[in-house]
Amino acid sequence: MSRAYEKVPEYGSGLRLHLNENTAGCSPVVLEAMRRVTREDCAFYPDYAEVHHIAARWLGVAPDQIALTNGLDEGIHAASYGYLQRGADGRQRRAVIVQPAFDMYAACAELAQAEIVDVAPLTGFAFPLDALRTAITPATRVVFLTSPNNPTGVAIGRDALVEVLSLVPSEGIVFLDEAYVDFADESAIDLIGAFPQLVIGRTFAKAQGLAAVRAGALVASEATMARLRRYLPPYGLNIFALAAITAAAGDDAYVAWYRSQVAASRQMVYDACQRLGLSFTPSQANFVLVRVGGDVPAVVRAMADRGIFVRDRSTQPGCDGCIRIGAGVVEHTGRALAALEEVLCAAQ
Ligand SMILES: Cc1ncc(COP(=O)(O)O)c(C=O)c1O
Repeated sequence: MSRAYEKVPEYGSGLRLHLNENTAGCSPVVLEAMRRVTREDCAFYPDYAEVHHIAARWLGVAPDQIALTNGLDEGIHAASYGYLQRGADGRQRRAVIVQPAFDMYAACAELAQAEIVDVAPLTGFAFPLDALRTAITPATRVVFLTSPNNPTGVAIGRDALVEVLSLVPSEGIVFLDEAYVDFADESAIDLIGAFPQLVIGRTFAKAQGLAAVRAGALVASEATMARLRRYLPPYGLNIFALAAITAAAGDDAYVAWYRSQVAASRQMVYDACQRLGLSFTPSQANFVLVRVGGDVPAVVRAMADRGIFVRDRSTQPGCDGCIRIGAGVVEHTGRALAALEEVLCAAQ
């Protein structure tokens, strides 16, 4: 079975709650910064020095511990190529993926010709530490973790993360994808200095609303970062991304506002689920996994007919009967929940 990444079909216009985007848009301050880009700025290869330092300071790491990327997807590519290709010994490397997971991990691991080992979810999506103890072998070079996870919104505890770090061979890494960490209780970024095997992926796509600008980052110890940099192109980010990152790093108030919208929206989804008798997974991200059961594609289609796009996640491990609903702007969540109630009542 191919693990190639399958993009979701373009839906056209409607309320996009299917790709975990920021449905409020980016901060006006960030848009203004991109508008200030000049003709000359566009004509010259960008100078990354200043934005590099700004991003490092903003994330609380040293400049040697960060690389900016063209979206986090590029970081996932770089880590996969840097660690999962066959070595000089010709032996195949192992990638371990805790499921359910973002599909790009398997897609990139497959391209690097790694052996892919999926670790199945436990009830309630508790972290499968015992299964990881078996799955991680001397051939393992990357363990892909996501905290908070996509599509469940469940965060990984610090003790569990530290234990996984202790299981990985010294030549390997734990790739901790923190795409949604701006909505969560805590980040593991402060562990970078202590664990050379920890690589953290971040993106400006979600909380900062810059998915179309393509801006992300990898964070790791100096030595690990030096190796990862070799797998990144020298001019991966365009001038608009540099302007946007610089402005976003100085505009925490916008993210604080969006975070509060997300917290209120998640609660609205939980309340609606309780009213409708649906089970859901409490989330630390900007979406909620809801078990609607029955004919999930029909529910997703009926929602789309009402102009609300949600994601069918029912074929992912442990997610049978589930849709994932973006939980961002409160007004958008209200519209989505009204449509969901109508669709489910009509199906009864
Ligand atoms: C867990 C996870 N990691 C990475 C990404 C990709 O981030 P970017 O848009 O910065 O490439 C996504 C996008 O949805 C995601 O869900």
